[in-house]
Amino acid sequence: MAVTRRDVTADSVPGESPPGSGFAMKRARLARLLLATCLGSLTMLIFYLQSGSVLEAEVIVGRNSSPSRTSRTSLQMLYSSDQTNLSDIQASLKSRRERLEEVCRSHPFKKQALTPDDLRHLIVDDEHGLLYCYVPKVACTNWKRVMMVLTGGGRYQEPLAIPANEAHVPSHLRSLADFSASEIHRRLRSYLKFVFVRDPFERLVSAYRNKFTRSYNSAFHRRYGTEIVRQHRRHPAPEALRRGHDVSFAEFLYYLVDPRTRRQGPFNEHWERVHQLCHPCLVHYDVVGKYETLQQDAQYVLKLAGAGDKIHFPALAKDSRTTGDTAAGFFSSIGPFYQRRLYSLYHMDFLLFNYSTPTYLQLR
Ligand SMILES: *[C@@H]1O[C@H](CO)[C@@H](O)[C@H](O)[C@H]1NC(C)=O
Ligand SMILES: *[C@@H]1O[C@H](CO)[C@@H](O)[C@H](O)[C@H]1NC(C)=O
Repeated sequence: MAVTRRDVTADSVPGESPPGSGFAMKRARLARLLLATCLGSLTMLIFYLQSGSVLEAEVIVGRNSSPSRTSRTSLQMLYSSDQTNLSDIQASLKSRRERLEEVCRSHPFKKQALTPDDLRHLIVDDEHGLLYCYVPKVACTNWKRVMMVLTGGGRYQEPLAIPANEAHVPSHLRSLADFSASEIHRRLRSYLKFVFVRDPFERLVSAYRNKFTRSYNSAFHRRYGTEIVRQHRRHPAPEALRRGHDVSFAEFLYYLVDPRTRRQGPFNEHWERVHQLCHPCLVHYDVVGKYETLQQDAQYVLKLAGAGDKIHFPALAKDSRTTGDTAAGFFSSIGPFYQRRLYSLYHMDFLLFNYSTPTYLQLR
């Protein structure tokens, strides 16, 4: 049902529909057409999403309907190279893919099919045939800048010349959720799909530091901080209740593991688990890049896209970075009971992306 409704709205995206009465007619015609084909494409979408090997088979057999030249080239570069003589990076990407599929097979997820809304974190680059699932706190600002350069048709040259707040304006990039089911299906099948991940607890500490310890993030303090103080602090001061500006790391974790929090709705994307944002067991990612090897992995994706010579992926600012030591420091004030509950909350991200259990945790 959600698919039908969204299909109609997706087709009225500005820039895609002719203005005036033609538009109304097109809409009516589309609605009829969609009624007829929606079930069909939805079935196809689900079918694709459940069969991981379709993509590779399509590339090898070459019977794909209409992939752009670039996307075929990037997928071929990734998959059809001599599989007995892989470069180090090809080998590590292959083992990450295999690991992911293996964990997905052995841990059946409740979710069996995707709706377009599940794909709203996937950013589309039609020119280079790329789908990037953005995960906040994993260099996503720089990736969005790079996606703006890639899709900008020459408007932008240098990623870092784009202000960070510009990179987060939703209308500057297109989400896969904005397309119809058949358009989604075609892109999932023929584009290079990639995601960047990071040690789950380093990502979480990074989110806490950025959203709760910086005075400029007052919108987060009001939206989440006030609620956390109200629910998880004994005898809160009136100012803290009003501003939500001084949430401690422990209070933030109490909020995360409290079952009431998830009953109210999904987590904010900055601390939502990657498997909930990017659905790696249903979207079969071609490349799983890692924050720990960001520069090398990102440049490899750009090379696959045919833009490796033109674009340099920006280096991370070193000064305020959250490392394993930073995370260990934050967790040292958390008792084993909450450490265990938090670890079980993020467990799938550790498992799917092969992050070992942090040695600073006291899980027994
Ligand atoms: C593997 O590739 C490297 C360069 O990428 C090349 O020097 C080497 O000869 C190749 N080995 C085989 C067995 O093809
Ligand atoms: C998982 O990570 C470990 C290092 O922590 C590495 O040695 C191993 O090869 C990785 N496994 C896969 C399948 O990537």
